[in-house]
Amino acid sequence: MHYFEYKDGELFAEDVSLAEIAEQVGTPFYCYSAATFRRHIKMFQQSFADRDALICYAMKANSNQAVLTLIAKLGAGVDVVSGGEMKRAILAGFPADKIVYSGVAKTHAEIEYGLEIGIHCFNAESEPELIRINEIAKAKGVKAPVSVRVNPDVDAGGHEKIMTGKAENKFGIPWKKIDKVYELIGTLAHLEVVGIDLHIGSQITDLEPFAEAFERVGTLVTSLRAAGHNIQHVDFGGGLGVPYKNDNDIPPHPDEYAAMINKVAGSLGVKYIFEPGRMIAANAGILVGKVEYVKHGDGRDFLISDVGMNDLIRPTLYDAYHDILPVKQATGVETQLVDVVGPVCETGDYTAKGRELPVFEQGELFAIMSAGAYGAVQAGTYNTRALVPEVLVDDDRFAVVRKRVEVDEIIALDDVPDWL
Ligand code: LLP
Repeated sequence: MHYFEYKDGELFAEDVSLAEIAEQVGTPFYCYSAATFRRHIKMFQQSFADRDALICYAMKANSNQAVLTLIAKLGAGVDVVSGGEMKRAILAGFPADKIVYSGVAKTHAEIEYGLEIGIHCFNAESEPELIRINEIAKAKGVKAPVSVRVNPDVDAGGHEKIMTGKAENKFGIPWKKIDKVYELIGTLAHLEVVGIDLHIGSQITDLEPFAEAFERVGTLVTSLRAAGHNIQHVDFGGGLGVPYKNDNDIPPHPDEYAAMINKVAGSLGVKYIFEPGRMIAANAGILVGKVEYVKHGDGRDFLISDVGMNDLIRPTLYDAYHDILPVKQATGVETQLVDVVGPVCETGDYTAKGRELPVFEQGELFAIMSAGAYGAVQAGTYNTRALVPEVLVDDDRFAVVRKRVEVDEIIALDDVPDWL
C-alpha cells in the first residue's frame, strides 16, 4: 500500500503533483511519500504490539537523513552496516541503544566508535571479529554487547546476488559451529552475550524458509542457555518481500509473518529484534524520469529516457521488475511493446525489457514504481552524470532532501597533480 495515486488523470505523491515537482526540480528525481513510510513502520510495529519487540530499520535500503529522521521519530531503532551509517543514525536522532550493527568487515575505528556511543549490540560475523571487539573493549575498559550472526544454511530463494543464508555465502557463522563460538566468547572477558542473530536474504515472498531458519535458531537459544549464556534477544533480520508487480506476487502480510514467528519462537521468552529494509522503503518511493526519444529500431521499439543504470541499478543488477506508469494518465487503450532504456553507454542500461506500456510521446514523464529501497542509495555518477536528487513529500508539502549533485561539482572532486 502506498500514497502514489492518480488524481484527475495526473499522478500525485500524496497531495503533490509529480509534474509540479518535475517542473521545479527537473528530472530524474526520486520522490518519497512520508505517509507511506509512516504507515509501513507502524504496520510492522502493530504486528508485534503484544510482544517485547524492537524494529531496527535496515537503513541500507534508504539512508536519506530526512527519511531516517522521520523513522526515528516513530520510536524505531536502526540496523547499520558501517561507521558511516552509525553516524547517520546518531545525526537523525536514533538513540544509540537502539542501534544494532551488522556487517562482515567491521574495522578497528568502526568498533571503537560503536563502543564510544554505546550501541545496543554488535552482530558479530566471525571469530576474528569477536577477538578484535574484545581487544578494543579491553583497551577502553568496557564490556561490548555482542550477538553472533548464525548462518542457518537455508535456501531462501530469490536472486543469487541477494541471498545470504546459505553455507557458501560470506555471512554469519555456520550454525553447527555456534556452540563453539559462544564457548570462545565465554573466555573473552570484555564481551557480553546479549543475543543471537540471523538474516537469510531479501525479497523473500514465502514464509517457509524463514520458519525453517527460525526453528533452527530456537533450538540454539535453548542449548546456549543450557550452557549458561544469557540470550536476551533474537534478531530475526530482515528480508520480507514487497509486491513489485501491481497484480500478483503478493508477499505475506507482516501479521502472517508475526504469527509464524510467535509459533516458532513465542515460547522462548526473548525480546524480538527485526531489521526490515525493503518492506519499509520500497513502495514509499518512486523514480520519475522523462522520455527523451522514442526510437523505432529493427523489430524493437525503444523509449530512451533520462534515467540511467547509474540512477537505478536494480533492473540490470538483479533482473528486478519495476512497474512503469505515465505521470499523465493514459487515456487511450493502445499499448506498445518497448524496451525502456537510458542514456548510459552500456547495453545493460535498461529499466524494463519487452514491456507492454501505454503509448509514450517524446518529453512525457513517467514513474518507476517501488524504487524507494535500494534505489538512491545505490546511485552513482557513471558517465559523469549528475547524482540524482531526492524529494520528500508530506501531505501537500515537498522538499528536496538531497540536491542534485551537478556535473561541475563532480568534476571538481578530481585533482590534477601539478607535475602532469
Ligand atoms: N539485515 C541485514 C544484515 C541485511 O544484510 C539486510 C539486507 C537487511 C537486514 C534488510 O533486508 P530487507 O528487509 O531489505 O530485505 N540491493 C539489493 C538488496 C540487498 C540486501 C542486502 N541486505 C536489492 O536492491 O534488491
